[in-house]
Amino acid sequence: MSEPTHDGGGERTRGREGTRAAEEGRGAAEPLGGPGALRGGGRQDAGPPGAPGAGSGAGAPGAGEAAAVRAATGTLLYGFALSRVTGAFVRLGIPDALAGTALPADRLAHATGTHEPSLRRLLRAASALGLLTVRPGGHYELTLLGELFRDDPRLRRLAELYGEPAVWRAYGALEDAVRDGGSAFRHAHGTGLFTALETDGPLAARFTGAMGTVTAAQTEQVVSGFDFGGIGHLVDVGGGDGTLLAALLRAYPRLRGTLLERPAALAAAPPVLRAAGVADRCALLEGDFFAAVPVGGGGPADACLLKNILHNFGDDDCVRVLRACRAALRPGGRVLVPALVLPEAGGGAGTQPDAETAVALSDVEMMVLTAGRERTLAEYRALFARAGLALPPGAPPALPGLPHHSMLEGTDGTEHGTREARDGAAVRR
Ligand SMILES: C[S@@+](CC[C@H](N)C(=O)[O-])C[C@H]1O[C@@H](n2cnc3c(N)ncnc32)[C@H](O)[C@@H]1O
Repeated sequence: MSEPTHDGGGERTRGREGTRAAEEGRGAAEPLGGPGALRGGGRQDAGPPGAPGAGSGAGAPGAGEAAAVRAATGTLLYGFALSRVTGAFVRLGIPDALAGTALPADRLAHATGTHEPSLRRLLRAASALGLLTVRPGGHYELTLLGELFRDDPRLRRLAELYGEPAVWRAYGALEDAVRDGGSAFRHAHGTGLFTALETDGPLAARFTGAMGTVTAAQTEQVVSGFDFGGIGHLVDVGGGDGTLLAALLRAYPRLRGTLLERPAALAAAPPVLRAAGVADRCALLEGDFFAAVPVGGGGPADACLLKNILHNFGDDDCVRVLRACRAALRPGGRVLVPALVLPEAGGGAGTQPDAETAVALSDVEMMVLTAGRERTLAEYRALFARAGLALPPGAPPALPGLPHHSMLEGTDGTEHGTREARDGAAVRR
């Protein structure tokens, strides 16, 4: 999983509160724990009863700062409740029930199959968060912000995923993970996320859908930020529902693709590839990338793509995947990893506070949901080296528009591999 970005904008202005919320980016950005909201995009002066509110000592030296710091504690403490209300709002189908209409609570309860008195309480909270506005006569209507959770498939799917009890239970075990190591998901569920996805069809569908929409929001930056032109056959290893591979196949008409995935994700791929008009140039292969990276009928791969894969696993498992990729490559082939690269300790902090928060929360999310972690360039270099792959010296090319993301480009480390890759790169650039 990864931290997406979102413009949070829109032309429509329906409901002043929601409009203001959307303009402030409140609730609409960085769904992975909402770093924007946690840092101050949220409504820090409006915590629930009992939450520390804004201080009242303006005028005294330092009081403004102290008040701002105190105000932030409301969101830090109650951010989970905001996320939970938003998740229930989406998962109960309220945005769909209010599509193009305004309804009173009793009709909304009927439409969503909910308990009316309890629904009223949720509606009050959703209104307070700027998702709804109440018209005279008690008719609820979506605000611009509420509309986003109906219109924008990425926000909607992320709200559904982050409203999953399995995800909440995993976040509830964060302390266990920090105390003992290991993934919080495993602490909470007794099994790893990807094993759970094998047996829980609805969770797998939500996870794959959410990943697809996160990736869709990053596709343009990956496709335009790196030249894939020298590649004839690309294997997207753990490529999810094929969102990125479909975009690459569209952008490069001579490219052939292979999507390697687990059955649940693979099942979601055909419509994505068909919609992009590239299904005839893409093989779908079910497999286990720890065991092998098969290449289908396309012959050895010119490149293997690993997007949002390595950060899900511990070092030894990453080395297994990288070795399997290496074995699938033609001599001189490349392993391409568009990745969030952690700044080295002490580097970069404070330059882009929201991006820094997103990076840190993404790393925490890896601890919560997976057995993996975000890594520094030096750590990636070490992983590649253990798999017999080499990253070029110096900083990897950044992916513009994706803060802290770079394209790691591993070659097989032999003289042949590095020379061919270098020559290929010279032709391509
Ligand atoms: C975080 S998702 C990334 C999906 C996609 N690459 C993207 O960036 O949108 C990780 C993917 O790895 C797949 N996966 C996990 N374990 C796997 C395995 N052993 N073999 C093949 N795929 C696996 C999952 O099904 C999931 O779709």
